[in-house]
This record gives sequence, C-alpha cells and structure tokens, in this order.
Amino acid sequence: MPEMGNSLRAAALLAFVVLSILVSLLISSVQQFGARISHFSNSTSSPEAGDEEELHRALIQQLSQRRREILPLLLPRQGDRNNKDRSPLHPELDLSVDYNLWNEITHGSRRTHMDEMGCDSLVDMHAVEILGSGYTKLVVKVNLAGGQPVALKLVNEQGIDMGKCVEDFKDPQGCRELVSYKLQKEMVLLQRLRHPNVIKLKGHCAGNAGGQGEKGRVTVILEQGNPLQMIQLLQSPWEDRFRICLDLVRLLHFLSQSPLGSVALLDFQPRQFVTVGGELKLTDLDDASAEETRCQSSADCSLQFPNRNFTLPCSARGVCEGLNEKRNIYNAYRYFFTYLLPHQAPPGLTHLVDNIMNSTGELKADINQTLEAFEHILSLYQSGLHLDNLPPSIIRDYNVIRGMGTSGNVEYRCWPSYSQQGCVLSVYSAREAAYICNSHSQCSSFSLTGQKTWTGRLLASFRSSFSHLVPDGTSEVYVKKSKAPETTAA
Ligand SMILES: Nc1ncnc2c1ncn2[C@@H]1O[C@H](COP(=O)(O)OP(=O)(O)OP(=O)(O)O)[C@@H](O)[C@H]1O
Ligand SMILES: *[C@@H]1O[C@H](CO)[C@@H](O)[C@H](O)[C@H]1NC(C)=O
Ligand SMILES: *[C@@H]1O[C@H](CO)[C@@H](O)[C@H](O)[C@H]1NC(C)=O
Ligand SMILES: *[C@@H]1O[C@H](CO)[C@@H](O)[C@H](O)[C@H]1NC(C)=O
Ligand SMILES: *[C@@H]1O[C@H](CO)[C@@H](O)[C@H](O)[C@H]1NC(C)=O
Repeated sequence: MPEMGNSLRAAALLAFVVLSILVSLLISSVQQFGARISHFSNSTSSPEAGDEEELHRALIQQLSQRRREILPLLLPRQGDRNNKDRSPLHPELDLSVDYNLWNEITHGSRRTHMDEMGCDSLVDMHAVEILGSGYTKLVVKVNLAGGQPVALKLVNEQGIDMGKCVEDFKDPQGCRELVSYKLQKEMVLLQRLRHPNVIKLKGHCAGNAGGQGEKGRVTVILEQGNPLQMIQLLQSPWEDRFRICLDLVRLLHFLSQSPLGSVALLDFQPRQFVTVGGELKLTDLDDASAEETRCQSSADCSLQFPNRNFTLPCSARGVCEGLNEKRNIYNAYRYFFTYLLPHQAPPGLTHLVDNIMNSTGELKADINQTLEAFEHILSLYQSGLHLDNLPPSIIRDYNVIRGMGTSGNVEYRCWPSYSQQGCVLSVYSAREAAYICNSHSQCSSFSLTGQKTWTGRLLASFRSSFSHLVPDGTSEVYVKKSKAPETTAA
C-alpha cells in the first residue's frame, strides 16, 4: 500500500514537472520568436520601398558580414602557443589547410578528407521522414544507397530566417545564400569541435542533393540521431537521465577549452541536442560563439537570466573571466539538471546530487569541478559504493537457482521501469535486488539475466510469481524463502 501512495505522489510530481516544462518551453520559444524577428531588421535592411539597388547592396553587405563571422573560425587560435594539438612551427600550413576547407565548403564538393562523403554519396538515397526543422534549417532522415542511415541538413525554405530575408530583400536566391552561411558556419564548427558529444559531420554536398552546384546551396551530411524528447526523458530511469546530464557536462568541459577557445552556446535549449544510442550529442552549432566579452570593470560582466543575475570578475587583460563557461553551466542547470537530475536519484547519492544542483545553480563551481563531481557520482554508482549500508544478510532471505529462467510470470509494474509490461530495474548486485524486492509488497522473486545498462549495472526483473522454471544458461532466479510455496515447480 505505501507503494501505491509513492507512485501516486510520483505521478503527481511528474505531471507538475511536465506542465512547468511545457510552460517554460512555450515562453522561451515565444521570446526567441521575438528575438529572431528583429534579427535581420537592421538599419540597412528596410530602405524606402522600391529601391532595388539599395536592397541589393544591403544584402551584399549582410553576405560579407556573414563571411567575416566565419573567417576567424578558420584561423588557428591566437596566442595559443602551448596547444600541443596544433603545429605551432608551421602556422602557414594550418592556414592553407583552413582555406582549403573554406573553398571546399563554399565552392566545390571535392572531399577534404579521404573518409568524407560528398554529393556522389547522395545519389539514389531514400528520404524516410523529416526529423526536425527550425528557424533556419530542415533536417531529413535518409537512407543512403548502401542502406546507411544519415541525417541531411538543408536550408529551411519555409523557415523564419528565409521568410524574413525574402521579405526584406526580395531576392530568394541571395537569401538562400545568406541563410546557408549559417549552415556553412555550423559545418566549420562541427569540423573544429569534434567530440563524442557533438554530432558527427560525415560530409557535405555544395549544391543540390542531386549534384549540380547552384550557388549557396549546401547539404550537410550528419550522423543520424533522435530529437531529444524531454517528456519521454522525464519518465525514464534516473540512470538514463543522469547519462544525459553527464554527457552535457563532458561536452561543456570540452567547449570551455576547445581549439577555438572557450565556446558559449548562445541558444541553449533541449532542441539543439539529439541522442544517438542513448548518448547526448549537440547538433545545432550555428549559435556557438568563441568571442570573449571585453570589460573595464566587473560591472561590464553581468550574466542575466530570467530568474537570476550574476556578475563575474573582469580580468587584468580586460575580458570577463569565464563568462562563456559560466553561461553554459547555468543553462545546463536551468534547462537540464533541474528537470532530469534530482528526481529518484539513488538514496546513497542524493546529497552529492544536491551539491551539484546547488553549485551549478549558484555558479559556485567551474566546469572542471562540475565534471569531477559528476564523474565521482558515476564511479560510486558503478562500483556500488553508495550501497555500503545494505545488510549483507539480506540475500539469505532468498533461494538462488542458477541456469534457469521463469515462465508463466505474474508481473507487476513499478516506476520508472525499463519495461512497460513488468518491473525491470537496474541493480548493482543480487543483494541490491533483494533489498528492492523486500521493499515491494508484490515481489516474491526476481531474475538477473546478465543484461546490463550503460553504466554496467545489471537489469533485474521483479515479479509476483511464476508457474515454472525453464532452463536458461544466462539467467539466475532468486525466490523469496517465505513466499516459496507460491511456485509450483522447482
Ligand atoms: N543529426 C540529427 N539527427 C536527428 N535529428 C536532428 C539532427 N540534427 C537536427 N535534428 C533535429 O532537427 C531540428 C532542427 O535542427 P537545427 O536545430 O539544426 O535547426 P535550426 O533551424 O537551427 O533550429 P532552431 O530554430 O531551433 O535553432 C533539431 O531541433 C533536431 O530535433
Ligand atoms: C546593425 O546595426 C547596428 C547599428 O546600426 C550595427 O552596429 C550592427 O553591426 C548591425 N548588424 C548587422 C547584422 O548588420
Ligand atoms: C537582472 O538584471 C536586470 C537588469 O539590470 C533587471 O532588470 C532584472 O530585474 C534582474 N533580474 C533579477 C532576477 O534579479
Ligand atoms: C544553495 O544552498 C543555499 C544554502 O542552503 C540556499 O540558500 C540556496 O537557495 C541554494 N541554491 C540553489 C540554486 O539551490
Ligand atoms: C581544467 O582542466 C583542464 C584539464 O582537463 C586543465 O588544463 C585546466 O587548467 C583546468 N582549469 C582549471 C581552471 O582548473
């Protein structure tokens, strides 16, 4: 009966969390809508009606500004003498490679690297469905001729960026070129910021997916992911939600000292991420910025969020110290950690989770310390150390039958379960499973099948009863001694 109360409370909590997320997502998309609307409407963009030449000049000016934004990303990081990944002895070599990349992205479809896909990879592809679309881009799920699944990113012809530009400049072709600079910038960033938690750039085709190079058309070929579904994640086991947060922290750690310097994600929202096999990957990079904020005093270094403002120190060389890093950490806290991390954290780990919530929510820790705290939780969780106070004797309440599985199961449901039909939870050991079974009034036996979660913990299925045992070399069944009569065969 206490089980029932708990799951009702959990369901109510979930409903509340879901509602708050929906509301905050709605608000932020409305805010963003407002922000984007004014994006193109600069002084140059609304000349008196009819002056075509002036419109054209204004568009050209925008085009060259976009180009100027990309060029610094192609240069080796300035003042970065001790970066071992680069060849400081041959900066001119780096430069030539980078300009090859630039020419490659803007003009040809010749492959920059041997393993990259080009326009020819897209011949005879099969489009499956639309994966997503935003203000700027359209993403399509595609199977290539060989059957390989990929995601293609294109300019979203129906998107707000295109619509606004055509309204301002009345030049669809020029606008397509302008908007595709965002794709090109993203491609340069994907190339520069390679990391396990950044979507993998597989290649691109400058021109139509079909082949002919029309100026400004770019198709980016990416690893295929699944758009992040926050609502689905909220209902998944803590271990999976922790994984998303840990991946995010690993990504932010990398971004804080990336080859481009400390990179801030200016548009930081769940929809900028996808998952690949349960792993989080950043896919929308066109709003990433490695710019540092110049300052004269700390008053110039304020970080403003809807519910919180922070002021950071102004360093001796006149830049806001750690601004990009701190902006990312707070956004991770407000968009991810608050929703995903605390609920149902394992009992032995809640104080560590609370510490992370507090230190990121107050910006007391830098990204190194935050990563350390996450990795510490992972290692405790993986090594079962958070279970130190479980009585070892608990397992003696059970008979173990190895090499057998069960059939004719009477299942019950628990939350959050890895299976919709029954109660499947991850455990460190049979001892932890016994502890869980003892705490579920319906439980009389459980099985371990050797199946593991991403952390290496075991999946255990709990049940009310079963009718008989069947040989299964990979499985072991634990039957509660006091309830043993419920089984009909042994
Ligand atoms: N590799 C991928 N695999 C699966 N889905 C993807 C992939 N890349 C992007 N998506 C989906 O497509 C959507 C649009 O992509 P993206 O965010 O790059 O476009 P955008 O126009 O910049 O969007 P926004 O207006 O949110 O900034 C994403 O929200 C994501 O759900
Ligand atoms: C927009 O106009 C402002 C002031 O007129 C200028 O500083 C800024 O660089 C312009 N931005 C773009 C994108 O043209
Ligand atoms: C943050 O600062 C802005 C500008 O100074 C101010 O308008 C806002 O009320 C502050 N918000 C909070 C939550 O303190
Ligand atoms: C952090 O802890 C302090 C002291 O307990 C508390 O006042 C504050 O609200 C907490 N902040 C967050 C973001 O949880
Ligand atoms: C953070 O860790 C990296 C190595 O992972 C190190 O190079 C860097 O100096 C650390 N930064 C701080 C502020 O401790």
